[in-house]
Amino acid sequence: MSPSDPAPVFESLSRLSEDAILGVMAKFRADPSPLKIDLGVGVYRDAEGHTPVLDCVRVAERRILDAQVTKSYVAPAGREEFNAAVVELVLGREHRAVLDRRVIAVQTPGGCGALRVGAELLRAAAAGTSIHVSDPTWANHLPLLGGAGLRLQRYPYYDATAHRLTFDAMLERLERAPAGDVVLLHACCHNPTGADLDDAQWRTIADLLSRRGLLPYLDLAYQGFGGGLDADAQGIRLIASRVPECLIATSFSKNLGLYRERVGALLAVAASEERAAAIRSHVLQIARSIYSMPPDHGAAIAAEILTDPALRGTWVAELGTMRERVRAMRRLLADALRRGGGGRAYDYLEHQRGMFSLLGAPPAVVERLREEFHVYMTADGRMNLAGLMPSNVDPLAHAILQATR
Ligand SMILES: Cc1ncc(COP(=O)(O)O)c(C=O)c1O
Repeated sequence: MSPSDPAPVFESLSRLSEDAILGVMAKFRADPSPLKIDLGVGVYRDAEGHTPVLDCVRVAERRILDAQVTKSYVAPAGREEFNAAVVELVLGREHRAVLDRRVIAVQTPGGCGALRVGAELLRAAAAGTSIHVSDPTWANHLPLLGGAGLRLQRYPYYDATAHRLTFDAMLERLERAPAGDVVLLHACCHNPTGADLDDAQWRTIADLLSRRGLLPYLDLAYQGFGGGLDADAQGIRLIASRVPECLIATSFSKNLGLYRERVGALLAVAASEERAAAIRSHVLQIARSIYSMPPDHGAAIAAEILTDPALRGTWVAELGTMRERVRAMRRLLADALRRGGGGRAYDYLEHQRGMFSLLGAPPAVVERLREEFHVYMTADGRMNLAGLMPSNVDPLAHAILQATR
């Protein structure tokens, strides 16, 4: 290169620091200890430590491969039978908005794809909109939503030391949000806290959102992992019946174990059928401009399972097994901590829902757990309880009690 040549374009890019979660995973892999415990991953694991392919998925996949005659494009909206089945799964067949034909759904590459397309839709509708996310929230919400140009704000949600929701502070903050702002809510199994709103709190939030003219954006990444498929959608169904419009980003990564297939959907509930059609046209244009069309294979599997009663029954049973396993690990761990001298301080682990809970300890404790006890979790103390097996519950309880003493 001569001195007169322009600087290479990528010269301006310096190397980014490693993603925090990937960093924990790498450290775990490098640890030779046979006693190591991985609570850092964001996926479900069975009692043998595997993230299984569900039986219903295997059957559906075989059928699809046997019957498939083309790999030609499907459409920017993905599969319509998938989209229709998702609306029913999330809102139920009898929901007022569904009966009024005010709901649209568009298949997306995973829940992340849905979140991003929804954020782009918000930008198209009202550039510079503020979106309020819980403090804390899933780390990826920030780039997915902020990257689309939305202004991020936080509402208080959870006290990690006291292990409880800060619901009054959440209400107080949202009361002050200007009409038209967007509020992101975790529909169930809040990531990373495991602390969900109860029925009365959902009703209070629904009233607030409707009274203040705030737009709810519901993230449903763990339907079926909390109380069951319908139970986990109750908050969404309530909100969608109280406000004129809302967005829902759903994912089948966890509940169908289809992580790498990238299956999700963006749903929009609109004030009228006509508005819903207008929103859909924008969503499709956004999809075209980012990835053109979503991947098909996983959505074909999901559609087969959702629309075949026998396969759906198998799925519901397998999902129940996953949910109960995580619940059982929560109970066992809380019990082991009680027996080990932790008193009732860890009861919250038993009552929270989904895969995640926060230890609520400073980073030094998280580091000590890793260095001394081979227990791996993210720096914020997020533990994936699905990483536990009956055999390592007692060692983990011992490690936590020692490290926090
Ligand atoms: C809170 C939350 N939202 C959305 C997602 C989206 O997941 P995916 O894009 O893998 O479907 C996840 C996955 O971990 C999540 O935890």
